[in-house]
Amino acid sequence: MRFIDLRSDTVTLPTDEMREAMAGAELGDDVFGEDPTVNRLQSRAAKLLGKEAGLLVTSGTQGNLVSLMAQTTPGEEAIVEESSHLFNNETAGMSRVAGLIPRALPGKYGALSGRQVEEALRPEDDHFPRSTIVCLENTHNAAGGTAMTPAQTKSVAEVARAKGLKLHIDGARIFNAAVGLGVSASTLVDQADSVTFCLSKGLSCPAGSVVVGSSEFIGEARRARKVLGGGMRQAGVLAAAGLVALETMIPRLAEDHANARLLAEGIDRIGAVDIDLKSVQTNIVIFDVAPLGVSSSEFASTLEKKGLKVTTKGRTRVRCVTHRGIGSGDVHSALQILEDAF
Ligand SMILES: Cc1ncc(COP(=O)(O)O)c(C=O)c1O
Repeated sequence: MRFIDLRSDTVTLPTDEMREAMAGAELGDDVFGEDPTVNRLQSRAAKLLGKEAGLLVTSGTQGNLVSLMAQTTPGEEAIVEESSHLFNNETAGMSRVAGLIPRALPGKYGALSGRQVEEALRPEDDHFPRSTIVCLENTHNAAGGTAMTPAQTKSVAEVARAKGLKLHIDGARIFNAAVGLGVSASTLVDQADSVTFCLSKGLSCPAGSVVVGSSEFIGEARRARKVLGGGMRQAGVLAAAGLVALETMIPRLAEDHANARLLAEGIDRIGAVDIDLKSVQTNIVIFDVAPLGVSSSEFASTLEKKGLKVTTKGRTRVRCVTHRGIGSGDVHSALQILEDAF
């Protein structure tokens, strides 16, 4: 059976152009800083996001962790959004490895406000941990791929700056946010001290993420990457695909967004489950099967038997993600399968 795979945009395979670039990549030992393809990718990524320098890391999880390790000291507090990936889905690395205590605040469609952050800050007192970093997520995965606007980010950044906190943006899907909002990615992160984005999601690379920020920060992030065993030697084979991704894959994310919209509106029209169309801003569609009286995992296994793969989010929520392997024909077929299952 051919499956329609809406589990994640990470299932995307590299393009022929990426495979050719990987095969022909000029290589060196990146732990000595001598892989020319890695160096090109890092500079290109930094430039695209308006920062001084970049660092290729193995994954989005590693990118978030090195960003925290490079900018904080164990025992400090990190302000995070309560449904963020960094807080929920990274095996508590921020505490286990970076030694931070998270302070989780509820976001609106995944976004924190400056006021919320300000109210959460503790007075200087021997009893309290010091809050030294705020983490935002753009787009926000668990909120449904919602995009934080430059104004929303600025409101948090102004408080962070005034109170001496660093601002980290988990921009695993920052180019989805940029395309969705119709702004440049650099506008979305210009207030941030550190940013991570993933090459291996909608951009279709086989692996890798890039961290960007000031040269000084990247120097520290490089040390943190070494602690985590993330120095990869001839990593230019991966960076070559990354360069192709940055050149060719960003504008096409709009197709994924249009397909997500088509899917969400179709689900809404069928009317059997709860869906908030306002949350569908990029390539993620989340709906709640509670009205059907089944659990999300029961529902997902029913769909899989019919040829549609999805993921579950908690007891009753189901997540579908559109990507380069999904065309509008697949969305119509998925809707047919969903309607049968409803
Ligand atoms: C928002 C967000 N941040 C970070 C990650 C982690 O990326 P990786 O799977 O490459 O570690 C993900 C993965 O889905 C994500 O959605």
